[in-house]
Amino acid sequence: MAAGIDDMSIYIPKLYVDTEDFAEARDVDIDKMRKGLGIYQMAIVDNNQDPACLAANAAYKIMKRNDIQPKDVGRLYISTESSFDESKAMNAYVVGMLEQVYGPDTFEHCGGVETKFACVSGSYALYDNLNWIRAGEADSQYALVVVSDIAKYDLGSSGEMTQGAGAVAMLLNDEPRLLTFDRKVTATSISDEYDFYRPFGKDTPIVHGQYSNLLYLMQVRKALELYKTKVISTGLIKPSPDESILDYIDYLNMHLPYSAMGRKALAYLLRHEWRNLPRWGPMIEKIGMAEPIAKTPGTIETILANPDFIKDDSKFNRLLMETDEFNDMYEEKLSSSLIASKMIGNLYTASLYLGFRSSLEYEHKKGIDLAGKRIGFGSYGSGSSAMVFSGVITEEYLDIVSHMELESDIANRRRLTLEEYEMLHRGLMPADESLLSGKDEFILTDVDKSNSERRYAFNS
Ligand code: COA
Repeated sequence: MAAGIDDMSIYIPKLYVDTEDFAEARDVDIDKMRKGLGIYQMAIVDNNQDPACLAANAAYKIMKRNDIQPKDVGRLYISTESSFDESKAMNAYVVGMLEQVYGPDTFEHCGGVETKFACVSGSYALYDNLNWIRAGEADSQYALVVVSDIAKYDLGSSGEMTQGAGAVAMLLNDEPRLLTFDRKVTATSISDEYDFYRPFGKDTPIVHGQYSNLLYLMQVRKALELYKTKVISTGLIKPSPDESILDYIDYLNMHLPYSAMGRKALAYLLRHEWRNLPRWGPMIEKIGMAEPIAKTPGTIETILANPDFIKDDSKFNRLLMETDEFNDMYEEKLSSSLIASKMIGNLYTASLYLGFRSSLEYEHKKGIDLAGKRIGFGSYGSGSSAMVFSGVITEEYLDIVSHMELESDIANRRRLTLEEYEMLHRGLMPADESLLSGKDEFILTDVDKSNSERRYAFNS
């Protein structure tokens, strides 16, 4: 049985910090943020929003647009790493909000959980729900997977310039109008790591940014190796000895903690894919230096303990990224997926899927026929695990993609002053106040001081 994404919607908070203001306030070179990291604006939540609100708003949008009733939804999963409760799952909060609009107990039948594994958990949720559909358990109902996060780092930390917030809702079924996932090729990789984690009671993570970036690349590459084995053994892709598996992926979507990370990941994966192909010799000539090889390869610790190797390796990567061969691949397969991230920032679990949406919209706007194109996904979550999988755009995709309009999804945003941003970040605004009213949206109205119960309302 086929299974895939029938439609998707995004919800992005209406407040943002512009890198112009941020760079000035933190005395950071704006070129580091814009050219180095690829960040122009970062979406910020208002005082009356939490990750459950963002998720409910994205879910409501997709249900409304498709005229879907609660009885049509068999499973509602929320994936997040911004959870505010250790026991009560976020999907329960979202059901509570949606029932304010659709009526009491209308979601009573609807199963689901909140999933956690840093930024990769949405991909696990997607995979599990696709298998629920493939197993024939869905019985004509949809699965709704919502990835929702608030990427918030300590004030003054190096992670602070890679913040953002938002949610993506994906409607899954057995006759998808947008994308059908490839079967039996999903590949994972996992190891116990401390690159980024948020212990109980903290509302910001402890981050080892450079370590995390390197782990991301290594884990995704390992998952790609397994993906390659699977696509070849299932006969999905039959590369000849002088071809790479990436030659068969029309578009690549990578996890985007900041948009430039996508470009770095593409360079890393291409380098490892091309190394043993005939095209590598002419590439090395163009790059003009031999590829650095770690003397004691194997673990991330041995690589990090070798600063000379890291320096040479970064130089090699930089030169590789200047070649026409790299830039052609970048423009063709990746660049459109980075556009939304530049304007919105890091969405943790939702970053990969915002990138997918961005790629669809901007490739469509170039006039390209996307039907039949194979889309590859490189998902990464700290702690750490990667997942590589793929799917094919359907013949009916235009019904969905022609409605995608990022400009209108993020229209009427308000640019925060740094004072306003810091007040929100520190939680200094009185609980019953917000900067915006949140019209036609679910908002958080109260957190009871005595028992932490949360109350929400649909602000019509
Ligand atoms: N002009 C252009 N580029 C510049 C520049 C300038 N003036 N100054 C710096 N840069 C480039 C650097 O060369 C670097 O590029 P590279 O990655 O290609 O080498 C990039 O900007 C970032 O600079 P760097 O010095 O590496 O930044 P940093 O040490 O301050 O940290 C992060 C950047 C991303 C590691 C940090 O913001 C972070 O930890 N963010 C959180 C990441 C995260 O959430 N990870 C979770 C799991 S994926």
